[in-house]
Amino acid sequence: MIKQAIIPLAGLGTRLLPLTSVFAKELLPINGKPGIEYILDECIDAGISEIIFIISKKKEMIRKYFYNDKLYKTLIKKKKDPRIIKEYKKILKYKKKIKFVYQNKPLGTGNAVLKTKKFIKNKYFLMLLPDDLIMRRNCSKDMIKLHKKYKASVMASMTVNKNNVNRWGIYSSSKKLNNQNFIISDVIEKPNTKDAPSNNAVIGRYILSNNIFKILKKQKKGKGGEIHITDSIKTMIDNKSLFIGHKFSGKYLDCGSMSGYINSTLQIAKL
Ligand code: G1P
Repeated sequence: MIKQAIIPLAGLGTRLLPLTSVFAKELLPINGKPGIEYILDECIDAGISEIIFIISKKKEMIRKYFYNDKLYKTLIKKKKDPRIIKEYKKILKYKKKIKFVYQNKPLGTGNAVLKTKKFIKNKYFLMLLPDDLIMRRNCSKDMIKLHKKYKASVMASMTVNKNNVNRWGIYSSSKKLNNQNFIISDVIEKPNTKDAPSNNAVIGRYILSNNIFKILKKQKKGKGGEIHITDSIKTMIDNKSLFIGHKFSGKYLDCGSMSGYINSTLQIAKL
């Protein structure tokens, strides 16, 4: 059963400067709602009961967003504004499910995952990268179903332009299970076009087993001097762990770049 999700939130958000110079990118509004709330809604709707936020001291603002009870209580007492009451109830609903752990050095996604080791209770857990929004269809829910059927790890994926493979983790597959699902035989973090085994990119939804932690402990730094989850996943695949690439059917929005962030508001407004 997958009941826990982890969300790395300690990234610096440099691609969104100057918006992120004093503000956490995950709190930036997308069509009137902080990006992180879309991710939380996806988790909760997929049956997740505990969500672990990996933040840093610099991203304390994210914790404050969910712990601003005094402000809401005072305002509600004074004004009894139904909109504020509704918003506060929503924040409380989220807060009950969120736990915080810290990653104070930006050492990469792999390092962020390792910080959650002692909190993960079951064999499998979900990870969502907050830059990647998937709208219209709950990708996490579909991946959990797939995991139940095959007892495998799962990564969301989509086909990308061959010239952009160096932006993503790229995988090759050894077997097609059906039109949407593929057994992964190898994965490489942000390859050059000439080294890329395909143009199938990994998108920010992962179902991982807790076996990843012992590999992450020994994981050496990779591209850009960071510890990449992709490199540890590669080791697991080499050690015969079953990983499925799931070509999701929702609409993908990349909120981690400036053009993508601007576009996400326009797209969500149209939904
Ligand atoms: C991360 C992963 C990469 C994956 C991408 C999906 O990269 O390292 O493998 O394809 O997320 O968004 P980042 O966006 O942190 O550079």
